Amino acid sequence: MEEKFILGIESSCDETAAAVICGRRLLSNVIFSSATEQAKYGGVVPEIASRAHTEAVDEAVKQALNEAGLTVKELDAVAVTYGAGLLGALLVGLSFAKSLAYSLNIPLIAVNHIRGHLAAAYLCDNNLKPPYITLLASGGHTAIIHIKTYTEFEVLASTSDDAAGEAFDKVARVLGLPYPGGPNVQRLAEGGEAVIDFPPSLVRGSNTQFSYSGLKTSVINYCHTAEQKGEQFSKADVAASFQKAAIDPLVKKTVENAVKLNVGTVTAGGGVSANGYLRERLKAECKKHNLKLVLPEKGFCTDNGAMIAMEGLIQYNAGNFAKMNINACAQIPLK
Ligand code: KG4
Ligand code: ZN
Repeated sequence: MEEKFILGIESSCDETAAAVICGRRLLSNVIFSSATEQAKYGGVVPEIASRAHTEAVDEAVKQALNEAGLTVKELDAVAVTYGAGLLGALLVGLSFAKSLAYSLNIPLIAVNHIRGHLAAAYLCDNNLKPPYITLLASGGHTAIIHIKTYTEFEVLASTSDDAAGEAFDKVARVLGLPYPGGPNVQRLAEGGEAVIDFPPSLVRGSNTQFSYSGLKTSVINYCHTAEQKGEQFSKADVAASFQKAAIDPLVKKTVENAVKLNVGTVTAGGGVSANGYLRERLKAECKKHNLKLVLPEKGFCTDNGAMIAMEGLIQYNAGNFAKMNINACAQIPLK
């Protein structure tokens, strides 16, 4: 890949992030988060997110350039998330990126956030190249994807209702855990045993369809029934049992697809792939089946600017540049 200096800007949810890459080498990676502020309200308040991005974006970009040892004039392109995400939040990053690219007279690259999550793995292993199978599990998406080339992929399995991250966040709420839910469920689960029989996240009899709404409802019913009867129950066991039911089928189907399609490499991306249990299960299963696993560090699984810069490089090489009138999109289909 060409050794271009690309700035990546991410502002789709509660992280304002900026990073610079040179080819596939990461030069800097800056993340400001409004999560502590959002935690007071139990979830992301879009208005608060937009205001926080407005205050942070300039500083995030300045720091990313400083840490990379570059002046703004040395950039070859500006890549920015244009969707999916919170509209007001996206517009802050997108407008900033447009002005920067316009003033520098360099290309603007509009990045699909989910493709950014998929691209994060390229930064973790310089030798990684398609084809491979990826497990995508974030707050909005859950899918097993066959990455065929740098720009083409096929969805092999996906969720028909909630995403895995969404289920973690809802279960966290039922268990009285603060935002952000996923890491807190993981922490609680570490002290529990997976002894409760919750329905696994794969639709019975299907190889391609996950469902998280039944699992989520089952956890809610379990907790509410126990509370109504005044029975004591172990929240740690609920967390561990939920985590197992949510994750085991994802890992199993990811590995099964890699073996079936004779694709020797597996990667993962999205916030839920920062989950310790998922990471251990995936490592063990890939080892068992002799598959190479490229697992981005936790900080590259959750939202960051580096993955946007990396996907920006892929789109740069494919000649996909954005027009200055491009708008933000709250939702973009996976395919
Ligand atoms: O990829 P991401 O940062 O944002 C989206 O694009 O959605 O994913 C956020 C999701 C949230 O639902 C969060 O609870 C979940 O990822 N998450 C986790 C963990 N860290 C983040 N879920 C389980 N275990 C974790 N350690
Ligand atoms: Zn994300």
